[in-house]
Amino acid sequence: MIKILAINGSYRNDGITDQTIEALSQAIKSAGAEVEVILLREYPIEFCLNCRACTQQPGAAPGECVLHDGMQDLIDKIERADGYILAAPTNFGSVTAIFKRFLERLAVYAYWPWDMNGPQYRKAQAPRKNALLVSSCAAPGIMGRWLFGTDKQLKTTAKTIGAEVVGSLFTGMIAKEQHPKLSDGVLAKIKALAGKLV
Ligand SMILES: Cc1cc2nc3c(=O)[nH]c(=O)nc-3n(C[C@H](O)[C@H](O)[C@H](O)COP(=O)(O)O)c2cc1C
Repeated sequence: MIKILAINGSYRNDGITDQTIEALSQAIKSAGAEVEVILLREYPIEFCLNCRACTQQPGAAPGECVLHDGMQDLIDKIERADGYILAAPTNFGSVTAIFKRFLERLAVYAYWPWDMNGPQYRKAQAPRKNALLVSSCAAPGIMGRWLFGTDKQLKTTAKTIGAEVVGSLFTGMIAKEQHPKLSDGVLAKIKALAGKLV
């Protein structure tokens, strides 16, 4: 069975990101695939130490981190998954801090020995998996996509773990209510997006 891993970088229970992932999960499950949702807000992940111990050995497999927290378990899940949903609301023009903390720990996907100027993506040659990107913002969605760093950061996340972006959803204008709900229009888009992933 196809396994989809959803990585959710929202801080809020039942916010727009949670609702989007829930609706995507239902659509993906009805298409016959499996979905596992990781709530980064509940996941024990430390900050990257920039020690680059994990980037020294060559090869397509993720390097080994010196930190022993929940990240190794998450890397194993990323490796086993067939596709991804990468989701983070836009805060101060970028992905949330918890999503960025997760992204920085993806340093294990870089080969970057001390004598090399810049990193190489370990998964650059690997068979591509598919990814959907999800974000939301107070600004109109189309503006948010172009104006903020979120879209680029989510794309970088996908590229780092060896995934090709097959679709994305930027829901805008959702910060005028304390408990925003997904509109029927967005729910219809979500169903179409799920079809691109599985
Ligand atoms: C601290 C903070 C910073 C935010 N910064 C932005 C921003 O820079 N641009 C924007 O359009 N919306 C911004 N917003 C609105 C959030 O993007 C919006 O509330 C969020 O997408 C909702 O996601 P959630 O329902 O999953 O929590 C910000 C919200 C907070 C709380």
